[in-house]
Amino acid sequence: MPIHTLPNYWILETRTTAYAFGLNEAGLLTHCYWGQRLTQPGDYPQPVNPMNWASFSGSAHLTPEEYPAYAGTKFIDPCLKITFPDGVRDVVLRFDSADITENDTLSIHLKDDHYPLKLTLHYRVYEQHDLIERWTSIENTGESPITIERIYSAEWHLPRGDQYRLSHLTGRWLDEMHIRREPLIQGIKILESRRITTSHHHNPWFAIDEGSATEDNGKIWFGTLAWSGNWKIAAEVTDFMSTRVNIGLNDFDFAWVLQPKETFTTPSSFGGFTPNGWGEASHILHNFIRDRVLPRGDTLRKILYNSWEATFFDVGEASQIELAKIAAQMGIELFVMDDGWFHKRDLDNAGLGDWWPDERKFPNGLKPLIDAVNAMGMDFGLWIEPEMVNPDSDLYRAHPDWTIHFPTRTSTQLRSQLILNMGRSDVQDYLIGQIDKLLSENNIRFIKWDMNRNVSEPGWPDAPGDQREIWVRYVYGLYRVWQTLKDKHPDVIWQSCSGGGGRADMGILRLADQIWVSDNTEATARLNIQEGFSQIFPANTMEAWVTDAGRGIVPLEFRFHVSMCGTLGIGGHLLHWNENERQEATQLIAQYKTIRPIVQLGDLYRLRSPQENPVSAVQYVSKDQSESAIFIFRTFISEPAQLPNLYLKGLEPEAIYENVKTHERKSGAGWMYAGIPITLNNLQSIIIHLKRSATNI
Ligand code: GLA
Repeated sequence: MPIHTLPNYWILETRTTAYAFGLNEAGLLTHCYWGQRLTQPGDYPQPVNPMNWASFSGSAHLTPEEYPAYAGTKFIDPCLKITFPDGVRDVVLRFDSADITENDTLSIHLKDDHYPLKLTLHYRVYEQHDLIERWTSIENTGESPITIERIYSAEWHLPRGDQYRLSHLTGRWLDEMHIRREPLIQGIKILESRRITTSHHHNPWFAIDEGSATEDNGKIWFGTLAWSGNWKIAAEVTDFMSTRVNIGLNDFDFAWVLQPKETFTTPSSFGGFTPNGWGEASHILHNFIRDRVLPRGDTLRKILYNSWEATFFDVGEASQIELAKIAAQMGIELFVMDDGWFHKRDLDNAGLGDWWPDERKFPNGLKPLIDAVNAMGMDFGLWIEPEMVNPDSDLYRAHPDWTIHFPTRTSTQLRSQLILNMGRSDVQDYLIGQIDKLLSENNIRFIKWDMNRNVSEPGWPDAPGDQREIWVRYVYGLYRVWQTLKDKHPDVIWQSCSGGGGRADMGILRLADQIWVSDNTEATARLNIQEGFSQIFPANTMEAWVTDAGRGIVPLEFRFHVSMCGTLGIGGHLLHWNENERQEATQLIAQYKTIRPIVQLGDLYRLRSPQENPVSAVQYVSKDQSESAIFIFRTFISEPAQLPNLYLKGLEPEAIYENVKTHERKSGAGWMYAGIPITLNNLQSIIIHLKRSATNI
């Protein structure tokens, strides 16, 4: 049983961790423990009783309330803020009851002690995955509407301490997912998106250590949010050594009018703990995402070709077939036509919204191209950007009111496009109809779902409730459209893209199989971006293309090796590649196929970070430890250079592993502890493929 109920006390236990809370003497639901699993129920600390330290410091500063609502002297960052119909903005929650469903889900029901309001804190324990899922629902049991101004999914409390360090991911378009580590000191550190999507700038993920963790050592408390819209993380340190992380929907410009008898449910936050450093924290998330979040986490992703950087908008039947022929010869399995294929789409200033093939470029529809691609043995995929509309489109001319806008303000166009209001059911139905038609009439097996701008003038003039509900209704609308299409077309593989990695989160991964990590395809830059991405997401979700960025400077092999660290794709202009390049690519694609299961489904070890080292390395080990693929990269070090030994991880110390290429054989211990000397020139890279051998040395 992963959930233990004691009198007024609950313990959630996973394989190696535990999380506990209970009612204190004042009846407040109080956090007690989050860390390594302990032996006896009595080992877990008792709830702290309220202490009012001074007239200036309310008890919330000292008592780690499990889910503090704004009330009384709670000067800390609260999880919930409500305005009742009479203008009262103070929520006094009292414990009501608790129940356990399906063995793994605990619900704690709280009630306001005056108003008709019920709040439920939900906890689901993923025992084998060492993770806890938390979300909150709120019900208006009265007769008048109540306005929610803030409702986080969870507050995660850390043990009392004063040395905490926060790791998070930051970046921008073309340069996403850089890992940053900074001390958490008194005050509130906020990470957020106000862009209606997850954003390139920050990711809804945090990891906190005690200041000195490494890839292999140190306690890490980490969490993320399964949500693809505005989100917020507020990590607060009080002056009483209390550190807590609030995570959930962004309350910036947010309101939700909760009608009588209605329930509002937040997105889920997932939290975990490990004493074994950053690497293990990533393993936990990778395994969970592959096993429980992704629709088909255990299947191998196909090697794709994408036309974008080769032909941009200039697509057509003949030119795409020419590219496809070379792609097929090189061993590519999926041919994806990117932007430019639909009605009147010659540049980025027209066509979005009109999702049917351009009659000039595809006079007989997409079928001849798809048939040709299929005849070459490849699947066919297509780019779409459903949430957008160009003012120069039939859709906009028919429905200008379908965009997000304020009628008295000029809607800012970015990339000549406006955003459709996905909160509207007519917009959702239109998109479902259009894309369903496309998928039903054509043998399309892959969709790249793009979203190429952020929001502005976030108005919804004829909204059914408060216009500020748009932030949430948009995302639910997006999820509904995508899920409906997925259900209708279960064989289609989906990629989430938002100008690269602008929509990478656990919410979208319930729908998308893989993520376009960045529009930056230059291999040396990509090393850092991929390292950041790997903190959260497994390699089978990390789509990585070899393009012409850096061609002539960075060797083709190096560019391939970087992309082979994830789900390999090719995006260069194959007609411009010479015979040598094509042959080399063919060999590398064949090699990727031999290591693909290890990379996509194995455990990842970040051996040397590219941020800190011009010699960086990542290693993948198959789950049964029978094979490993190690990628080593040298960017630039001035000569004469001394390179460090490389120490592998994750092998079975006693087993013998053979280097598939050189036939060198050593025990796992030998590969891991004696170190491998590295000889690489600037911009050189190498893959070592090890296989466990049945015979001794
Ligand atoms: C975005 C994507 C690119 C490409 C273009 C097409 O920028 O990230 O990969 O699909 O749109 O317009």
